[in-house]
Amino acid sequence: MLIKKPRDIASSEITPREAFRGRRRFLAAAGLGAAAAAAGIATRRAAAIAPDAPHPGGLPALPARKKAELSTLEALTPYKDVTTYNNFYEFGTSKRDPAEYAGRLRTRPWTVVVEGEALKPRSFGIEDLLKLAPMEERIYRHRCVEAWSMVVPWIGYPLSSLLRAVQPTGKAKYVEFVTLLDPAQMPGQSNPVLQWPYREGLRMDEAMHPLTLLTFGLYGEVLPNQDGAPLRMVIPWKYGFKGAKSIVRIRLVEQQPVTSWMRAVPDWYGFYSNVNPHVSPQNWSQATERRIGQGGAFGGLFAPRVPTQMFNGYGDQVARLYAGMDLSKYF
Ligand code: MTE
Repeated sequence: MLIKKPRDIASSEITPREAFRGRRRFLAAAGLGAAAAAAGIATRRAAAIAPDAPHPGGLPALPARKKAELSTLEALTPYKDVTTYNNFYEFGTSKRDPAEYAGRLRTRPWTVVVEGEALKPRSFGIEDLLKLAPMEERIYRHRCVEAWSMVVPWIGYPLSSLLRAVQPTGKAKYVEFVTLLDPAQMPGQSNPVLQWPYREGLRMDEAMHPLTLLTFGLYGEVLPNQDGAPLRMVIPWKYGFKGAKSIVRIRLVEQQPVTSWMRAVPDWYGFYSNVNPHVSPQNWSQATERRIGQGGAFGGLFAPRVPTQMFNGYGDQVARLYAGMDLSKYF
């Protein structure tokens, strides 16, 4: 993510700069995509996970049933890349900072307040949330506005399960997500690069959509801290920054929330932020992306660029949510 104003930054600088700062990459391309996809889900899953299996991060296992019909068949991004090439500005602005500094975050005990326009607002301890609904593994494309992407086997359940539990009122039109505010644990919060705590939001129908995942794990284990432990959002048809990490508060509200990135650079980051190859409010193009982990060294700098798909390829499921809206205006 970038916070410079458009006039300050050359378009040629955008992706390569991050990639060069990404330092050394440890894993070469998985090289498993075509054959595995042809062989179907079971083979693909086994092949793609094999380099890191059975417990790639050595974290507690998080059993989940596989949700094949909502999962992509593309080759998984290696665990190493998913957990060392991160955006989590609470721990610094470079891609390696979260893996280096997020270890200090204490994720137990952890409480999430769900409040606002709800008949039964309440606090949930993380252990209660883990048991609230059956865990599912969903393999989603994960597209960052910086024009890189990954394929990640997330674990969680639909956010709708949690929202239904508090019974939203008729006035609940939007949902706001708020990350922990604690500069002692999150040294990046001493840097006013964003207004803290990190805030994101969804329209109510987006929040209730079955693809919208309240996420507790990846690759068969609980989330590593750098990926947003103990819980985060994943909304696969939107740019990655919509997926707030380490959430402590979920608010049902009547007015559209102002998100951290909208506040920082309103011209670049809209409320909707649906992946859209035809609209690039930033001064770099969203038409293509490079798949992290498939281009060898330097953060996948040499990965071939592939065309970005409208709604990140989830148009069949979500395009109807935006029927009649001018998506160049509501970016
Ligand atoms: N959540 C918080 N709290 N702080 C952040 O800086 N960065 C966002 C999003 N969620 C961010 C955040 C951005 S820009 C992206 S692309 C994704 O997290 C990255 O998720 P990943 O590191 O797991 O790939």
